[in-house]
Amino acid sequence: MIKAGIIGGSGYTGGELIRILLNHPATEIDFVFSTTRAGKKVTTAHPDLLGVTDLEFSGNVNIEVNVVFLCLGHGNSTAFLKEHNFSVNTKIIDLSNDFRLHADDDFDGKKFVYGLPELFKNEIENAQYIANPGCFATAIQLALLPLANANLLKNEVHINAVTGSTGAGVSPSATSHFSWRNNNVSWYKPFTHQHLGEINESLHSLQKNSGNLFFMPNRGNFTRGILATSYTKFEESLEDAGKLYQEFYKNAVFTQISDEPINLKQVVNTNQCHIHLHKHDDILLVTSAIDNLLKGASGQAVQNMNLIFGLEEDLGLNLKAGVF
Ligand SMILES: NC(=O)c1ccc[n+]([C@@H]2O[C@H](COP(=O)([O-])OP(=O)(O)OC[C@H]3O[C@@H](n4cnc5c(N)ncnc54)[C@H](OP(=O)(O)O)[C@@H]3O)[C@@H](O)[C@H]2O)c1
Repeated sequence: MIKAGIIGGSGYTGGELIRILLNHPATEIDFVFSTTRAGKKVTTAHPDLLGVTDLEFSGNVNIEVNVVFLCLGHGNSTAFLKEHNFSVNTKIIDLSNDFRLHADDDFDGKKFVYGLPELFKNEIENAQYIANPGCFATAIQLALLPLANANLLKNEVHINAVTGSTGAGVSPSATSHFSWRNNNVSWYKPFTHQHLGEINESLHSLQKNSGNLFFMPNRGNFTRGILATSYTKFEESLEDAGKLYQEFYKNAVFTQISDEPINLKQVVNTNQCHIHLHKHDDILLVTSAIDNLLKGASGQAVQNMNLIFGLEEDLGLNLKAGVF
């Protein structure tokens, strides 16, 4: 059994990791570290686990675990690793954006690999340290990678994406307050969202001069999921586009091309990304949908863990969509 540690256990991505790993046939949770709840039962933060686990949050870490997941806000992973020296054999999977960009991927001699399996599967299989991609970044990259791979991102790309409130973490804020968020929609960080950096680095790894991205992130009045629409000029036919996407994702267990228009509920609570293609005049519209906490965070982190440890990529990740 793989011994796993979770840091930031009372947060949203930490909670999702606990849920996945409790049901994963090849892992056992060694500890769940919490700065605020050490000594308390995990169910005090995640009451849905009542009757499932008696685990308690810990104020200590076991530096000898086989894998540790850092589920901390930006900057806190770096601070945490400075204070905690894990064994040289411990694999580290970081869910923040501390190590995602090339400029940040070497921390104290630890080389972090960008953990998007659809693009870097071989590198992940041989990695010890993983920078897990952002949630918007996952949905948008999966929508655009096949075009970049064919050198077909020649023009501007316009992207509109809407996320649920869990994307902002467990701490309440003005824009996650029920009274504000419910029955409401708003945009934020127009054209400047921090995930653009990692998206561009991945696209450039396939196509040097890929077109400019214009990204509008939106807050939706639902709790989980991301629906992204990306469109750009595309002179080939819809059938050609379909072939490109099918070919690019032929070995991807968690990315599916749908002939039918897609909606969020078909992927929420799963580790899947669903993609749909539509052509209007010379514009190709690519719609992608993921669960921000699963394929956009903790599910993808476990997918990466499976690859690192030579397990089936989807082990412990065949989850059931809510659908209704
Ligand atoms: N939410 C998403 O959809 C999503 C998707 C992709 C990536 N991410 C990234 O994943 C990371 C975690 O996100 P999240 O949504 O799970 O956040 P979160 O709900 O706010 O949880 C973060 C947890 O970190 C712990 N913490 C807070 N301050 C800390 C500090 N100074 N030092 C150590 N621990 C501290 C807290 O847990 P304890 O009180 O138990 O210590 C807190 O609950 C973030 O970097 C986020 O950007 C999130």
